[in-house]
Amino acid sequence: MCGPNYNVNQQFSITRSQRTTLSERKWKKMVTTIEEGNQVEHESGYDRQRELKLLDDSKSGVKGLVDAGLSKIPRIFIHDNLNTSSSATNHNVTIPVLDLGSLHQQGSSRHETIEKVKDACEKWGFFQVVNHDIPQSVLDEMLDGVRRFHEQDAEVKREFYSRDITKRVYYNTNFDLYTTPGVNWRDTLSCVLAPRPLDPYLLPSTCRDIIIKYAEYVKKLGLVLFELISEALGLNPNYLKDIDCAEGLFMLNHYYPPCPEPELTMGTSGHWDSGFLTVLLQDQVGGLQVFYENQWTDITPIPGALIINLGDMMQLITNDKFVSSKHRVLAQKIGPRVSVACFFRQHLQPEASKVYGPIKELVTEENPAIYKDIRVKDLITHYYAKGLDGVSALEHFKL
Ligand code: OGA
Ligand code: NI
Repeated sequence: MCGPNYNVNQQFSITRSQRTTLSERKWKKMVTTIEEGNQVEHESGYDRQRELKLLDDSKSGVKGLVDAGLSKIPRIFIHDNLNTSSSATNHNVTIPVLDLGSLHQQGSSRHETIEKVKDACEKWGFFQVVNHDIPQSVLDEMLDGVRRFHEQDAEVKREFYSRDITKRVYYNTNFDLYTTPGVNWRDTLSCVLAPRPLDPYLLPSTCRDIIIKYAEYVKKLGLVLFELISEALGLNPNYLKDIDCAEGLFMLNHYYPPCPEPELTMGTSGHWDSGFLTVLLQDQVGGLQVFYENQWTDITPIPGALIINLGDMMQLITNDKFVSSKHRVLAQKIGPRVSVACFFRQHLQPEASKVYGPIKELVTEENPAIYKDIRVKDLITHYYAKGLDGVSALEHFKL
């Protein structure tokens, strides 16, 4: 029954009191160093790499900083030229909301739903779904599980800390910590769930059962969505499934602690998702925005709804017919905010070696191919290397 991490945790609890003492000492030192760094920042510049490494080495993320009682955010988190003000936000539009319950009804409603999907995918690359057949209790338990993971004893959580993206399960803060221009106020537990089955014992016990259960529901919902999107593209319903768009599932469990100076930083910097399709579950705190018609627009939480958005791989294979939109999460005084992003996307080797390019049925003389044929692996490698720098990864793959 016991997988490797299970043993690590057991072994770990035996020596816990010892480790706590050691790490608390190291930890206090780190917080002091960062606060001192803040005070001298304007005189002598600061050793950014060193501060990044201190945060990384603490293995307790942004949550660790908040728990240590920081009242000012460290310099590494400060973003230049940030405009997060409410006056710069377009409050007059909202992303479309689709009722998937109507798919169970007879008649013309499937056709209407497909028309709505098409419109949303062409204009926004985002929509919300209600009546998606994932029970509310499963959504609630999933968010609780993520909260439990991030709020558990720092020493236990630390065992999962890693930057090795070839691992199936790991926790860290800012996947792009060392390359990003502005560090984000966020910690994340990452899990590669499919296509290769995951040994459940690699998952943290605090959220193991619910991750497995929720992922099964998300896979089913994904199949429904890929059918609708295939039809919205004028292709046969199985088209996207048959080219394996639905086979990979990569899950990010985000935790956004309350931030003492939210106007200076971001929860997640503006970015485009890399995969084919994302199913995003957010709690009721808010802060998610999409860039639509040159303005940031709030994606206000709807209880029980899921957010669906298209990623770069979808924009690439649809040859820009459907769009991957830029989105971000504001840092906020209130929190924590918790969210679960499930990306339909293969992850590194070997499954990510499959080649994708603009779908031939969608390429015509008037609409010639815009992108090269690429492997998902190429996009991921490029994406991870550049970090959330505000530039679309797709630029790199244009013909
Ligand atoms: C992401 C993302 C939004 C959120 O993980 O790509 O955009 O609400 N997350 O956490
Ligand atoms: Ni995203």
